[in-house]
Amino acid sequence: MFYEPGLNNHGLPHNPLKAIVAPRPIGWISTLSEQGVANLAPYSFFNLVSENPAIVMFSSSGLKDTARHARATGAFVCNLATRALMEAVNLTSTPLPPGESEFDLAGLARAPCHVVSPPRVAEAPCALECVWIDTVQMVDRFGRATGSHVTYGEIVGIHIDDRFLDAGRVCIERLQPLSRAGYLDYAWVEAVTPLPRPR
Ligand SMILES: Cc1cc2nc3c(=O)[nH]c(=O)nc-3n(C[C@H](O)[C@H](O)[C@H](O)COP(=O)(O)O)c2cc1C
Repeated sequence: MFYEPGLNNHGLPHNPLKAIVAPRPIGWISTLSEQGVANLAPYSFFNLVSENPAIVMFSSSGLKDTARHARATGAFVCNLATRALMEAVNLTSTPLPPGESEFDLAGLARAPCHVVSPPRVAEAPCALECVWIDTVQMVDRFGRATGSHVTYGEIVGIHIDDRFLDAGRVCIERLQPLSRAGYLDYAWVEAVTPLPRPR
């Protein structure tokens, strides 16, 4: 089959696009509101986009709380979503009224960060402390503004639970990082295979 996404003429019961660009890593992003309430939500339009300096991005469909807080306070934290935390991750996508925290809804503990103000998820085995760089509203190919806003942040602190280190390497099989597939599906990594790059 072939279809043109702008015309949405795939003829399928659900949009297949996110099942094709999959699995996507999940940035489980904690921020602080300007009133100091801890916010937490999963973002699968998320990735590492630069190694040195270390920069991550996430994209908000509409300017959601996470994107607004990151811009207003200058900081956010990307907690690692894992298979063991899948239900909690999912629960934190619940829209809550201002003043209520997804940490409490999901029964998660707040752990302090070293450099930035928002708390990290104590149960998450890794977390990236980020300083906000920019928020960019995406335009389409005609230059028209879209509802998608991409937030960039520089990683200024990295937490790794030592139990997930093995011979000096982060053990992905043990972490079982969670990712988003299409539809309502999650996937996780259970096995990896090293393959040296060709010279
Ligand atoms: C696994 C998963 C991934 C998600 N990824 C995104 C995303 O990339 N962008 C987005 O705008 N919403 C995404 N959502 C929806 C948000 O998590 C949801 O709208 C949430 O309430 C936003 O919270 P906030 O307003 O506190 O930022 C995702 C939801 C789930 C369950």
